[in-house]
Amino acid sequence: MKEYFKLNNNINIPAIGFGTWQTPDGQTAINAIKTAIDAGYKHIDAAAIYKNEKGVGLGIKEANIDRKDLFVTSKVWNEQRGYENTLKAFDNTINDLQLDYLDLYLIHWPAAAHQFENWKQLNNDTWSAMEKLYKDGKIKALGVSNFMEHHLTPLLQHATIKPTVNQIEYHPGYMQQDCVQFCNDNNIQVEGWSPLGRGDVFDNEVLKQLAHKYNKTVAQLSIRWAIQNNVIPLPKSVTPNRIIENFEVSDFNISESDMALINKIDTIANSGLRPDSVSF
Ligand SMILES: NC(=O)c1ccc[n+]([C@@H]2O[C@H](COP(=O)([O-])OP(=O)(O)OC[C@H]3O[C@@H](n4cnc5c(N)ncnc54)[C@H](OP(=O)(O)O)[C@@H]3O)[C@@H](O)[C@H]2O)c1
Repeated sequence: MKEYFKLNNNINIPAIGFGTWQTPDGQTAINAIKTAIDAGYKHIDAAAIYKNEKGVGLGIKEANIDRKDLFVTSKVWNEQRGYENTLKAFDNTINDLQLDYLDLYLIHWPAAAHQFENWKQLNNDTWSAMEKLYKDGKIKALGVSNFMEHHLTPLLQHATIKPTVNQIEYHPGYMQQDCVQFCNDNNIQVEGWSPLGRGDVFDNEVLKQLAHKYNKTVAQLSIRWAIQNNVIPLPKSVTPNRIIENFEVSDFNISESDMALINKIDTIANSGLRPDSVSF
């Protein structure tokens, strides 16, 4: 199994990231991060809006790993869009995490036409701040999240540095194949959020049968499936045995025909969160 993918700026990114949305700040976040790093995760997916970056940062500090061996992502939230605001948001994030740099910084959601007449300009301004952070060495890679082709196209025209990553909802039963194809064509690495559909993929019969066949859990099957489709899954858990389970996916291989069966699963576990209709 691939342990790393290579981003378009030649940086290696670990093939599984550890999710932190809805992880309570404080001791729960500290314990989850330490457990994850002990289990072998080398990639943490954080965000300012998760309101737990202090706990995540303490977990990183207390964990037994060199900073250079860890890949840490965060995201600028929707209320901080624009050039100056993004620079300030980055300072807050880096202070909360107690880090000197981020490996990857993302625009969490695009500004979109249903909320902003000047949405393209707003995304461009946010991007210009990200490019400055990159040139100043404060982030090793820059990218976006929840950008569809029609948000990416104007950004790509403006950008002097291309996005390396697009983080979108991706799990069995919700593959956003058009967006993935566009990203693949443009050498933008896709990361998959809610790789377990927030727990909602577990009852699917196809997944249950295949998990049984490979002697794995549905969670492990879903995570491995994403990686074999060249998408980086970001499973989240605060439960130690699940954190460990979700990382144990390198000792089996899903056959091509079984990959096709999973690819064909009808829509399930769809969050309904779309960049062109969200209210936040
Ligand atoms: N960019 C974005 O807009 C965006 C949006 C959503 C998510 N994300 C990122 O993607 C990450 C993952 O997505 P997510 O948190 O929405 O959902 P997820 O990882 O698909 O599912 C997490 C849920 O599944 C449970 N779970 C985890 N492993 C399990 C296992 N092996 N067996 C049974 N249950 C298990 C967790 O419970 P416990 O924690 O109680 O164990 C939690 O309730 C987030 O944490 C965040 O970092 C990004």
